Amino acid sequence: MVHEYTITLLPFDKRFTCGEDETILAAALRHGINLRYGCKHGGCGTCKALIVEGEVDQSEASTFALMDFEREQGMALLCSAYPLGDIAIELSDYEESELEGGAPIEKFLAEVAAIDYLTHDIVGLKLGLVKPAQISFKAGQYVDVLVPGTSETRAYSMANPPSRNTEVELMVKLMAGGLFSEYLRQRVKAGDRMTLEGPYGGFYLRPTERPALLIAGGSGMAPMLSILRDMKERKIARSVTFFYGARAKRDLFQLDELFGFEKSLPSFRFVPALSEPAAQDNWTGATGLITEVVAQEVPDACEREAYLCGPSAMIDAALAVLAQLGVNEDRIYYDKFVTKADNAR
Ligand SMILES: Cc1cc2nc3c(=O)[nH]c(=O)nc-3n(C[C@H](O)[C@H](O)[C@H](O)COP(=O)(O)OP(=O)(O)OC[C@H]3O[C@@H](n4cnc5c(N)ncnc54)[C@H](O)[C@@H]3O)c2cc1C
Ligand code: FES
Repeated sequence: MVHEYTITLLPFDKRFTCGEDETILAAALRHGINLRYGCKHGGCGTCKALIVEGEVDQSEASTFALMDFEREQGMALLCSAYPLGDIAIELSDYEESELEGGAPIEKFLAEVAAIDYLTHDIVGLKLGLVKPAQISFKAGQYVDVLVPGTSETRAYSMANPPSRNTEVELMVKLMAGGLFSEYLRQRVKAGDRMTLEGPYGGFYLRPTERPALLIAGGSGMAPMLSILRDMKERKIARSVTFFYGARAKRDLFQLDELFGFEKSLPSFRFVPALSEPAAQDNWTGATGLITEVVAQEVPDACEREAYLCGPSAMIDAALAVLAQLGVNEDRIYYDKFVTKADNAR
């Protein structure tokens, strides 16, 4: 028989049950309670919280995302912590309203409708939803994709706006030897079926009036496009600057649409930057690492909200730059695209 334990969220005194065989995060989401999280498998550190009563088994958490001294202080990664008894967790940096109101998480059967190479190593994948035929999500969220022919899942952010709810558009950076990457490189074809689960994640535009900085690299473009497409449809007139980092011109894509937002959104600027432009690129735009370009271009960042998406190393570098620029850490939201290689570090 599976034991059920009580998890209490302080200071709200909100309670839910969690089986001994499920993680605290999985149980919370099952009960419709929105704890903060990113990767869901112990790699990004977003779900870190202080256990003030009781014990958890978190042997699966990576020593990289949860340092030994943090374990000793009683911190846990809720996405990889299994309760060993009743637990109380301190969430004093949450607003109670944040814990409520997420879209229900569902499993979807989907069918590959289109496959396009957006760059030499980023593939655009459009999946038509078969059953259920519609998904409800917030711009910026992601789905877990069950890699066809395996029992493993990978997370991918939606690039389509929530209004296009009968499909899921993904942008996948191909990684050498990667499970889903190799499926895309070698086997995928229109009509293939796959299972998705979601929507997941707390990465979405907060409904404030603050000027926003969006910073992305590589396939971190996907959730940003979803956010910008949604802003355009909903005529959101907020000031937004989108910094996008790539190596050379061949790594840029979707430029017409992005520069087009400068015309359709009243206060939007797109700043692509190349870190290693090729001689034949004849590049006249910003150069350098995207974090360096942000530091040069945004001297007055204190009042801004920041949204970051892309590889782990880029996010860590951006967090350091935003701290120097005086952006309050409570106003920084990010999705680290952690991979198996990051988890193995
Ligand atoms: C919240 C979230 C959202 C994401 N959204 C996107 C997105 O929109 N677009 C996107 O492109 N990616 C996204 N990712 C990353 C994505 O989930 C995958 O991790 C990525 O695509 C790699 O998957 P894969 O199956 O191709 O490679 P994997 O099989 O996961 O391997 C990744 C790399 O690690 C290497 N590797 C595998 N095992 C090991 C090991 N044990 N030790 C060392 N190296 C190893 C592989 O050779 C490969 O190079 C997101 C991740 C998260 C957490
Ligand atoms: S969500 Fe727990 S470490 Fe990423």
